[in-house]
Amino acid sequence: MKLAVIGHGYVGLVTAAVFADLGNTVFCVGRTPQKIANLKKGILPFFEPGLEEVVKRNLQARRLSFTLSYEETVSEADIIFISVGTPSSASGEADLSSVFEATEKIAKNLRGFSLITCKSTVPVGTNREIAKILNKFKPKNASFEIASCPEFLREGTALYDTLNPDRIVIGVENRKARDMLLELHKPINGHFVITTIETAEVIKYAANTMLATKISFANAMAMFCEVAGADVEQVMEAIGLDQRIGRQFLSAGIGYGGSCFPKDVKALVAMARRYKTSDVLFSAVEEINKLAYLNFTKKIVKFFGSKLKGAKIGVLGLAFKPNTDDMRDAPSIPIINSLVGKGAKVVAFDPKAKENAQKSLPTISYVKSPYEAAQDAQALLILTEWNEFKQLDLEKIKKLLKKPVIFDGRNIYEPGKMKSLGFTYFGTGR
Ligand code: UGA
Repeated sequence: MKLAVIGHGYVGLVTAAVFADLGNTVFCVGRTPQKIANLKKGILPFFEPGLEEVVKRNLQARRLSFTLSYEETVSEADIIFISVGTPSSASGEADLSSVFEATEKIAKNLRGFSLITCKSTVPVGTNREIAKILNKFKPKNASFEIASCPEFLREGTALYDTLNPDRIVIGVENRKARDMLLELHKPINGHFVITTIETAEVIKYAANTMLATKISFANAMAMFCEVAGADVEQVMEAIGLDQRIGRQFLSAGIGYGGSCFPKDVKALVAMARRYKTSDVLFSAVEEINKLAYLNFTKKIVKFFGSKLKGAKIGVLGLAFKPNTDDMRDAPSIPIINSLVGKGAKVVAFDPKAKENAQKSLPTISYVKSPYEAAQDAQALLILTEWNEFKQLDLEKIKKLLKKPVIFDGRNIYEPGKMKSLGFTYFGTGR
């Protein structure tokens, strides 16, 4: 099939690369000349394991191309994917300006029949708006169908998730649209959920909010365990053995970040309010997420008291999670800002996120290894659970630190072991 994918963020670029790799001809359309020029050379706008290789392979095979032009691509495509960003607006609602801007451009360039499929995470009713815009701006002789096909990939494992999805949700209004999307997804093994457009739109918010709810539950339990003298890791291990609950996404820490959970939970709160239905659970999920990083910061402030001013604090990990260079809504940002605001001198190491971190945290120092971050620091903070931090030479770290103090925001170490090594160790919820 011939596909046009509008947008080259995580969703757009991975979708374009995977469908090209499966043998389709894919035009990936962007609006930033520099990024498109780079993509043409195989230079990606973000780090994602394995993606560069797939992009380069398909560029070379001429199945994948990057362009600024809607004219030469949309008119050719059987299926057009909208996969542009829907960030939070000031009110918390999803900002749909990029979706509608792309839709208008698609409409003006439609020829014959095309299926317009929205992959961006959009509030209920957005696909109906997309259809209205298409009808308003399309040439008279062009026709279209709409579909909602939300994306469930995670950053860091995006290729694996796209090729091995738990489910493929297809929201459509008729058989023609359904059959086209089933045909396209044929080589991918996944459970298909065929549903209405509105239900598909809600499934995406429900999935992300359920996962965020599990994390906030773990974080609320962590705060409870800290005062009750229990170990949240063992509590989650035990309850996770119940198959009705499951262990995944119950790791307590400093809160969820990234470009999805924070904005999607906010958008669901805004939607619930707009429909005048209860947002109480969704708002609580958001509130507890803030408490998670505030609770972590409070422990550090309490430990140092007035000595935080001028203290050197080493930080391991800045990205919102491992295997990505993404700093969007990373909990490391408010934690570090708060410590810097109280006079601490922060020296940080992250294996991939330094460049992006420098934009959000311009005043702190960056070093090239975990050991350099520990050098002469009064305490070491673990803010992202990169694998390379899990088996550090802890004797060396202890010697390098001015005081052997570790605040572990991701529970990568065992409290008993750390104590026996002579560390003053603060885990999260244990
Ligand atoms: C999330 C979803 O997992 C994907 O299914 C979805 O497609 C994507 O959002 C999206 O809507 O585009 P992602 O944001 O890449 O994917 O990252 P996750 O792996 O879900 O992690 C999100 C945050 O939750 C991270 O900050 C992570 O540290 C935190 N987390 C995760 C925890 O604090 N505890 C856990 O147990 C799991």
